[in-house]
Amino acid sequence: MSLQFFTIDDFDMEDKTVLVRVDINSPVDPASGSILDDTRMRLHAQTIKEISKKGAKTVLLAHQSRPGKNDFTTLEKHSVALSNILNHPVSYIDDIFGSAAREKIKEMKKGDILLLENVRFYSEEILNREPSEQVKTHMVRKLSPVADYFINDAFAAAHRSQPSLVGFALTLPTGAGRVMENELNSLYSAVDNVKRPCVYVLGGVKVDDSIMIMENVLRNDSADYILTTGLVANIFLWASGVNIRKYNKKFIEDRGYCDFVKKAKQLLKEFKGKIKMPVDVAVCINDKRKEYNIKKIPDSPIFDIGTDTITEYAKLIRDAKTIFANGPAGVFEKEGFSIGTDDILNAIASSNGYSIIGGGHLAAAANHMDLSSGITHISSGGGASINLLAGEKLPVVEVLKEVTLKK
Ligand code: 3PG
Repeated sequence: MSLQFFTIDDFDMEDKTVLVRVDINSPVDPASGSILDDTRMRLHAQTIKEISKKGAKTVLLAHQSRPGKNDFTTLEKHSVALSNILNHPVSYIDDIFGSAAREKIKEMKKGDILLLENVRFYSEEILNREPSEQVKTHMVRKLSPVADYFINDAFAAAHRSQPSLVGFALTLPTGAGRVMENELNSLYSAVDNVKRPCVYVLGGVKVDDSIMIMENVLRNDSADYILTTGLVANIFLWASGVNIRKYNKKFIEDRGYCDFVKKAKQLLKEFKGKIKMPVDVAVCINDKRKEYNIKKIPDSPIFDIGTDTITEYAKLIRDAKTIFANGPAGVFEKEGFSIGTDDILNAIASSNGYSIIGGGHLAAAANHMDLSSGITHISSGGGASINLLAGEKLPVVEVLKEVTLKK
C-alpha cells in the first residue's frame, strides 16, 4: 500500500510556531513518580531536533496514561528527561490551552521548546470522536490561532481519534513527524508481505485492544495461532474453566473486565485450537516466583507465564514465518517475573520469521535486552501497530491522508 502524507520537509518553519503531538507515554513508578523508561522520548528526539533546527518555536502536546490509573500524572518530569535527551532546555507549563499556556507560546523565541501539560487532564481529550467533532473542542479552538503548523509524530496513539491527535489537522497545515513516517512505512510494508504461519503473541494489560485484534485477525483468517500471555492469558484461562482463584478473578473484576471473560469464552468456542493459553503460570508468594500447573494455581497473584508454556510458545514462534507481538508476558518490572517476557523476546529475536513487536513496555524490554538486530521492526506503538496490522483504519493516518489529498 502506498501512503502519501506531508512531512516536516514540506513546510518552511523558520520563526513559525509548530504544534507537535508526540507520544511520550512512559512507564512511571507510581510511588516515586520517576520515569522508568525513556525509549519513546529518545525516538521523538529526531523530530523535535529537526523542527527546532528549522528555526521553529516547538510546542509539544502529549499524554501520560489514562484518568484513574496510578501513573496518570503531570508531564513535569518528562520535560526534564526530554531536556537531557535533547541536550537543550525543554520548558514546561502546567496548562494546556488556558491563557497562561497561550501567553507562554506567544513569548517563545526561535528554537525554543515548550511542553504543555498532560492533554488527558482535559476531559474532552479522552472522548474518541470524528475529527469534525474534535475540531470544535476548546483545546483545538484555543490553540490553533497561536500556531502555524501541526506535526503529528504520535504514532503510538494513532488508533485514537482524540482532539490533540485529529483535531488540528483540520485547522492547521499538517504533516507527519519522523517517528510517524518510519512506523507507517515499515508497518504497511509488513502488511503487504505477510507469510504463513503467522503467529500473534498478545499480552500486557490492555485487554480491550488485544481482544479486538484477536477477533479481527481470526475472523479474517490472517492468524494461524494466538499465543496469550499477561492479563489477556488470565482472562482466557478463566473463560476456559481454569480456576485462576479469587485474587486473580478479583483483579479482573476490579478493572471492569468481566465482559471480556464472556467474549473470550465465545472466541474459544468459535476458533477452537487457534487460541493458545498457558499450561503453567508463575505466581508471587512472599515476594518470590513459584511455578504451578494451571490445574493447581494457588490463591496468589499470577505474575508471569510458566516455563512449560514458554517452551511450547517458543516452538510455535520458531516455526512461524511472521510474528507480531504486543504487550509483556507478565509483571516483568518485578524481580523474578521477567522470565516469560525475556524468553519470548529471545525466541522472537532468534527466529527467522519477519517479526514486529509493539507496545511501550515490550519495546522497552527488547531495547534493554539489546535485541533490536534480531527483530525486524520494534514499533513504538502497541495498540496502534496491532490495529494497523489487523487491517483497522487508524484515525490519525486517515486524517493525515485526507489533508494531503485536499492540497
Ligand atoms: C500507548 O501507550 O499505547 C499509547 O500511548 C496510547 O495509550 P492509550 O492506550 O492509553 O490510548
